[in-house]
Order: sequence, then structure tokens, then C-alpha cells
Amino acid sequence: MGSTTLQLLLLILLIHLLFSTAQNDDATYLRALTNDWRNTPPNWDDNSDPCGGWDGITCTNSRVTSITLASMGLTGSLTGDIGQLTELQILDLSYNKGLTGSLTPAIGSLKKLTNLILVNCGFSGPLPDTLGNLESLIFMSLNSNGFTGRIPPSIGNLQNLYWLDLADNKLTGSIPVSSGSTPGLDMLIHTKHFHFGGNMLSGSIPPRLFNSNMTLIHLLFENNQLTGAIPESLTLVRTLEVLRLDRNLLTGDVPSNINNLTRLFEMFLSNNQLTGIVPDLTGLNVLNYLDLSNNTFDPSVVPSWFTTLQSLTTLKMYSTSLVGQLPAALFSIPQLQNVDLSNNRLNGTLDIGLSHSNQLQQVNLQNNEIDDFRQRSQYSIDLILVGNPICMETGNTDKYCSLPTNTSSSYITPPNNCVPTQCSSSGQVSSPNCKCAYPYTGNLFFRAPSFSDLGNSTMYDSLRTAMINSFRRSQLPVDSVSVKNPTKNLEDYLVINLLVFPSGDERFNRTGILGLGFSLSNQTFKPPAAFGPYFFIGENYDFLLGASGGGHKSSSNTGVIVGATVGGCVLVALLVLAGIYAFRQKGRAEKATQESRPFALWDTTGGSGAVPQLKGAKAFSFEELNKCTNNFSESNNIGTGGYGSVYRGSLPNGQLIAIKRAKQGSTQGGLEFKTEIELLSRVHHKNLVSLVGFCFDQGEQMLVYEYIVNGTVKDSLSGRSGIRLDWIRRLRIALGAAKGLQYLHDLADPPIIHRDVKTNNILLDERLVAKVADFGLSKSLGDANRTHVTTQVKGTMGYMDPEYYMTQQLTEKSDVYSFGVVLLELITARNPIEKGKYIVREVKQAMDTSKELYNLHEVLDPTIGLTTQLKGLERFVDVALRCVEETGDRRPTMSEVVKEIESIMELAGLNPNAESAANSADYPSKGSEHPYTNDNLFSYSGDQFSTKLDPK
Ligand SMILES: *[C@@H]1O[C@H](CO)[C@@H](O)[C@H](O)[C@H]1NC(C)=O
Ligand SMILES: *[C@@H]1O[C@H](CO)[C@@H](O)[C@H](O)[C@H]1NC(C)=O
Ligand SMILES: *[C@@H]1O[C@H](CO)[C@@H](O)[C@H](O)[C@H]1NC(C)=O
Ligand SMILES: *[C@@H]1O[C@H](CO)[C@@H](O)[C@H](O)[C@H]1NC(C)=O
Ligand SMILES: *[C@@H]1O[C@H](CO)[C@@H](O)[C@H](O)[C@H]1NC(C)=O
Repeated sequence: MGSTTLQLLLLILLIHLLFSTAQNDDATYLRALTNDWRNTPPNWDDNSDPCGGWDGITCTNSRVTSITLASMGLTGSLTGDIGQLTELQILDLSYNKGLTGSLTPAIGSLKKLTNLILVNCGFSGPLPDTLGNLESLIFMSLNSNGFTGRIPPSIGNLQNLYWLDLADNKLTGSIPVSSGSTPGLDMLIHTKHFHFGGNMLSGSIPPRLFNSNMTLIHLLFENNQLTGAIPESLTLVRTLEVLRLDRNLLTGDVPSNINNLTRLFEMFLSNNQLTGIVPDLTGLNVLNYLDLSNNTFDPSVVPSWFTTLQSLTTLKMYSTSLVGQLPAALFSIPQLQNVDLSNNRLNGTLDIGLSHSNQLQQVNLQNNEIDDFRQRSQYSIDLILVGNPICMETGNTDKYCSLPTNTSSSYITPPNNCVPTQCSSSGQVSSPNCKCAYPYTGNLFFRAPSFSDLGNSTMYDSLRTAMINSFRRSQLPVDSVSVKNPTKNLEDYLVINLLVFPSGDERFNRTGILGLGFSLSNQTFKPPAAFGPYFFIGENYDFLLGASGGGHKSSSNTGVIVGATVGGCVLVALLVLAGIYAFRQKGRAEKATQESRPFALWDTTGGSGAVPQLKGAKAFSFEELNKCTNNFSESNNIGTGGYGSVYRGSLPNGQLIAIKRAKQGSTQGGLEFKTEIELLSRVHHKNLVSLVGFCFDQGEQMLVYEYIVNGTVKDSLSGRSGIRLDWIRRLRIALGAAKGLQYLHDLADPPIIHRDVKTNNILLDERLVAKVADFGLSKSLGDANRTHVTTQVKGTMGYMDPEYYMTQQLTEKSDVYSFGVVLLELITARNPIEKGKYIVREVKQAMDTSKELYNLHEVLDPTIGLTTQLKGLERFVDVALRCVEETGDRRPTMSEVVKEIESIMELAGLNPNAESAANSADYPSKGSEHPYTNDNLFSYSGDQFSTKLDPK
């Protein structure tokens, strides 16, 4: 007996030593984490390696980088094991009410986490202080759980934070601000969104919370227990677009200079105990929605801004002690839809004018002192005058003297020129295209819509169109979207029931649901301007094929085993353990074999040396690539150069690729080729085109890259691609490309000099994120202490560093020079050398720094946008010209260039951390009327769900 046990132990040890080499253990930790979860995707049981295609898991180089499992009906808890997945960037477990327990402090170990999304789960308990350690965090949505306790002050340390949503929890205590060495939320100067509504926050709003460096656009504190006065410092945050302080216990006067917040679209101060005079809102010219109702203001006459705020759709000021006569001009504000001035002391004759707003729907003047109405017999709006002297005249039976029966507008998306199908199976619904299918459903909550006419189908059509476009851009299989039953809830949120229908099939597959859930939980979908900030609460999708119901069980034995061991049945336990080990190690062994397969194809003849050391790149056989390019057909040829041709192809998994095929005679030596792919496979950055694999077979040398859909920056600047690049897009492209180069110079190991930086080598993906391509000529600096390499001069005329040309000494500063030319090309859209004129000289000659825009109007690309909107252009020119200084030592480094472009973007009111433009199709180019004007968070890249960049 004893010796059998010993043998087993030895066996286990041996197996372990054999297989668990230096490999990371993400697989182990992920399995431990999900051990007690139910309803995990069934394909987790098919494969022991989470990076081998588990639904909802994305890996890079065999490390788990994203977990997105929205709306799966998961149950379980989030244990400390999550803290071990140290490469994790995205965690989205939204809409799984069965995930309960507290948020583990171990979450703070995830230094690379950018998106933490736990919307509408069942989490409770305090928020751990370690949230403040998530130094990369950009997006934090913890709303609609049961979190208690205070807001951790450490959140103030999250300098990259862009989105902070803690709403709809049970948080208490006051809003933390910094003091001495204690951090606080006032430090979040890059954050655009404070969504804290629907908690039990108390204390006064600290004056210190606000400062002029902040860039908040949405400040939502509604429905808490905040006391004291609205701090004057609030008016320093000039970027504010939506302000909700309603439903608190605020007292005191409204700050007199609140009308400094000239970008406000929506303001809710209702249901407080504010005193003093009704605030002066003159100058809030873009204000759409105003609610000051139910406060204890001093009696005041109708303010003059009632007739000057020409953007108002909604004016709500019931119970605000207004006296006097309403001006008829109020009702001719062009977009006015809804006026509620009930419970005041408005008097005299009501005159709504004959040419009032044609959108005017309801005017509620119940309980005032109005004694006459000029348009008695000729009005078509919904008017309420109950409780006014006019209705106390004997015999007045006019309609406005009775309360309207509750007519909630019941909108539902109509069928799209077809007859709805009667669907037989339960759960199926006839889509707008009249096909029976199982929709993904949930509720959209709009926290501050700018309109109040809930029956206007144009609004919902625009919402649906925006949503379908957004889903399609993320390559989600959506046929159509239907919305219904818009209502206002108690918090004045607009709630809309959403149904998303699958394309092709009658049901979504699991990846489709995960993608839809993420698109909505991560705010990838942005509604049209008028809808304002939102959140979504998705329902479980019960119609997946092959859903086991019981869910993932394979590793739940471990718990049993531990119990058994403790119970004393050691041998049995060890036997089972050995079994599990053998099983797990078999998985590892299989994986190891797979990983070594590329080496089998490595042609070791001809002096190419040992098999290459690759990270994540796959070896393709000639046959494979031949097949996916349709025998390298002409129609798939997308470019030809000295080295050979580039072909487009698609892999069996659907991923689009670009294949660079060296022509016979221009192939490198095997060793050189090997060095190149080793180098390329090591390089991973979102602003660099990734190497997917290579082919070194049948005498061919090919490099396989991810395919970048929107072509080169040059194509867009020249107008060939049809993508218009406005100033903001150009800034983003400049920043992206600069970051890619900075990575090559500072973070690649060994550092890489690109040697051929030009607009033809900067590609744009579907979200117009710039990706630097073609390191085909790149030179690695080898050991980091060397600062230059002497090489034969390569590069492209016009972009080439003159110093390098003369000395043949290549340094990073040569790339900086070329990049400077790229920057000039970005603003002028001219070729570096055009009709014998050199762009650098042309710009310098035209330039006059004492004039506006440096007097460059003549050389600027006319399609860059209005010259009045080119914020930061002068500084952009400055940095470009510093890059093209004669000698390298006077040029900035790429990291200095990155910093400078970032600060130019901030100057232009943009968030440099939100890299990409919304999309190439409907970037809000005019922008200024959009509640998301400065709001461009898309850390999610659309290809996450369509392709897996880690071919195994
Ligand atoms: C705003 O930022 C500037 C520059 O970083 C700094 O000097 C200033 O103290 C900041 N102001 C406030 C109110 O934090
Ligand atoms: C903001 O308000 C203060 C006080 O009313 C005023 O002095 C100042 O000029 C205003 N600033 C702007 C930019 O309107
Ligand atoms: C007015 O506000 C108070 C709290 O300040 C609230 O209790 C009351 O329900 C509100 N009245 C209406 C009609 O909303
Ligand atoms: C309306 O009320 C104001 C203030 O109480 C008063 O001065 C005015 O005469 C009233 N107007 C009418 C027409 O009753
Ligand atoms: C519906 O809304 C649109 C956009 O705001 C507006 O142009 C249109 O006039 C509205 N329709 C009605 C009937 O109010």
C-alpha cells in the first residue's frame, strides 16, 4: 500500500517535472477561478487549454488577455485567482446576476487591466482599495450591483481613467477628495464620466472635488443623499455637458455663475431644497433639457431666459414659486416639446401664440392663477389648466379643464414593409424584417435624454440605425433591431426595451451573444447625441444550441478531492489526482507538440540555421497560403514592389491576412529571413501591424500579416480611399503612429529602427487606428548599448534623414526625421517631393509664426476642416519642424513626440487615451452639439470577436 502511494507520488512528480516547464500558468488559474462557476461555455470542456479557443477567452502569446462573458447566466464568485491573470486587459462579466460575493482585493494585481466591466451582476460588499492599483485602467463600470461602503479614495490614483460608473449600488459616505497624501476623485483630470447616481452617498459635495483642469463631460450624482450647497467650484469644469444633481437634499443658493457652463445640454437640479432666487441661465445657449422643479426658491417673476434659450426641448419648473405672466415667445422656441410649470403662481392670460413650436406636445400649468386663455378654441396641444381660476368659471367644460387620461405613448418598431410572421416556438419573435428568430433582449436606460417627446419614431429610427451600424462594424451577425415601450422611470431615465435579431440563422451563437453584450456593456455602441449617456441591462440568452444547462463541470472534481483527502482517504485521492494530472499534462503535451509543429516545416538546408524562436507566429505551408489566396490570383494581388507582391487572403477561420511574397531572386538568405521573422514575431503593439505567420517552404519566403482594411494613410490623404480625415482624425493618426514607433525604439528588445517611415507604411484599421507596417527593412540595434548601426542606405526619397544619407549611420533619430515629414504630409496632404518642391522647405517658407495658424492657410490641405477649428495646429507644426532638424541630436525622441502630440490633443479637447475615432463611417465631424463630443473611448478593437490573432 505505502509503496504504491510512493510510486504514485513519484510518478506525479516526474510528470510534473517533464511537462510543467517555465510555461505560465494562466490555464491553471483560470480553471481554478471558474471552478465553482456554472453555465460556462460548453466548449471549455472540449479543450484543456483556455487559449485553444474557449468561448469568451482571448489570449496573446498563450497568456489570457481578455475575458468577456456577458449575459451567460453564470453563477459563482470571483475569487482571488483572478489576480494571477496578470496579462489580463479586459474583464467583462456583465449581466450575470448569479455572480455574487464581494469583489476580491486581488483584482488590484491586474496591472494591465484597461476595462473592468461588471454591470448588473450580483456583487456586494465593499469596493476594495486595491482598485487604485489598476494603473492601466481606462474604463470602470461597476454599476447596478449591490456594492456597499464608501467610494475608495484610491480610485483617484487612476490617471488613465476615462469612464467611472459606480451608479445604482448601495454606496455610502461622502465623495472622497484628496488631502495631503490621501488621493481623491479630484485628481481624475482625464476622466470624462462620473456616474454615481442611485446610491446613498451623503455629506456635502466637496468644493475641492472640482478644478479647472478637469475634463468631465457627464456629472451624474442624482438620487443620493447629498446635503449642503452646490459648490461654486463646479463652474470651473467648463467641459460639462450633462449635469444631474437632482433627487438629493441640497440646500443653499445655486452658484451665481452656473451660466458659465456654456456647454451644458442637460441640467437636472430638481427635487432638492435649493433656495435663493431662481438661477440666471442666460447664455446656456445649447441647453436642451432643464429641470429645476420642486425646490424652495424665493418667489420670482418669470425669468427673461425663458425666451432666450433657443435650444430648449423641455422646461420643467413645477413648484418653484414663479409668479407673473408667461410670455408667448416661450412657446415659439423651435424645438420645444414639453413645458411643466405646474404648482406656481403664474397669472394673467395664457397666450401660446399662433405659431408655437410645431413639436410642442404638452403644457402643464395645473394649479396656477391663470384666468384666461387666448387660443381657447384653436389649439392642438395637450394643455392642462386644472386648478386655475379659468377652470373655476361656472360652466367651463373645455378640455384643458380636465386631467388627461394617462396616455403613455406606446411605441414599437413597425415591420419593415412586410407582414409580420406568426411565430410558433415560444421565445421566437417576428423581427422588423418579418422573420421568426430568437432575439437577444434587454433594457436600455438613458440617464439624461435631451428630448421628452417619447412618441417620435424618428428618434428611435436613428437609434436603431446607429446600433445596427455599430454592431456590423464589430462584425456581429445582426439582422435588425427593434425597440419598444419607451417610458420614463421614477429617476427620469428613459427606459427602452431592446430586441436584437440575428442575421442568417434563427438564433445567435455564443460568440454573437458575448460580442453583443460587450458592445453594450463597454459602450462600444454610442447612441445618437440626443439620447445622452446610457447603460444597458441584458437578459440571459436562453436559446443557445448545445447549452448544457448544468454547464461546465470538468474541473469541479477538485473540490470533492480536497474534501476526500481531508476525510482521510488519501490513496483514492492521490489516484484521482494522478488521473487529473495526467489529463492536464496530456493537454499540455498536446499543446507543446502543436507548438513545435512549425519547426517541422523549417527548411534547415541551405544554411538557415536552427529553427526560429517564435512568439505567436505560425508557420504556413505553401499549400495553405496558395489555397487562401486562390492560387495567388491576380484579383488578390493588392500591391507590388521591388521585393515581390502582396496578396490578400483569408484563413479558414475567416481572418483576413495580407501576404508579402518575395519574388524569385529577391529572397534573403535563410538566416536573414529567420532573423527577420524572429524580430517581427516579437513585436506586439496596437499601433503596429502584427505578424500572423510566415512561410518558408518550397523555396518561397512569405510573411503573413493581419489585413488592415482601410488602407494606407497616403490613400486617405490623396482622396483615393474616400475616407475624409479631419483635423481630429489626423491628430489621432499622428499619435497612433508615433506610439508605434516609440514602441519599436524604446520597448522592443532589442530596439528596432524602422528605416522606412512614410505615409504609405502607416495603415488604418476599421476604426481608423493607425498601424505602422512593414518593418521589412527594419534593423535591430542588437545590443541596447549601441546607438547606431552602419548600413547600406535604404529608405524612400523625401522621407530620408539627410544625416543618415551622408554618414550612413542609422539611429532612431532617422525615423524621427521621416516621421516629421509624415507630420507635414498629414497637414498638407502633399507628397514630400512634388513638382520638385520639398515639403519641409515649402512649409518653412510659407510660415510666419506671428500670424494666426502660422500663416499656413495656403499650404494646408483644404479637407482638413475649418481653419477656425484647427486647435493646436501651430504646436503640431512646431513638433514636425523639430523632427526634421538637420542633426539628430536636435530632434526629439519618439517618446517626446508622443508626449507633445498628447498634449496637443488635450488642447484640442480630446482624450489622447481614447485612441480611435468612433469609426470610419460616422465620426461626429461637426460634433459640437453632441453630448459625447469629447468622448471617444474605444479601447475595444472591433476584431476581437471576428478573429483570433493567436493561431495555434
Ligand atoms: C492644473 O494643472 C496645472 C499644470 O499641471 C497645475 O500647475 C495647476 O496647479 C493645476 N490646477 C489645479 C487647480 O489643480
Ligand atoms: C464666470 O463667472 C464669473 C462670475 O460671474 C465671471 O466673472 C466670469 O467672467 C465668468 N467667466 C466666463 C468665461 O464667462
Ligand atoms: C419634492 O421633493 C421632495 C424632497 O425634496 C420629495 O420628497 C417630494 O416627493 C418631491 N415632490 C414631487 C412632486 O416630486
Ligand atoms: C400677476 O401677479 C403679479 C405679481 O403678484 C402682479 O403684480 C400682477 O398684477 C398680476 N397680473 C395679473 C394680470 O393679475
Ligand atoms: C421628431 O424628431 C425629429 C428630430 O428631432 C424632428 O425633426 C421632428 O420634427 C419630430 N417629429 C415630430 C412629429 O415632432
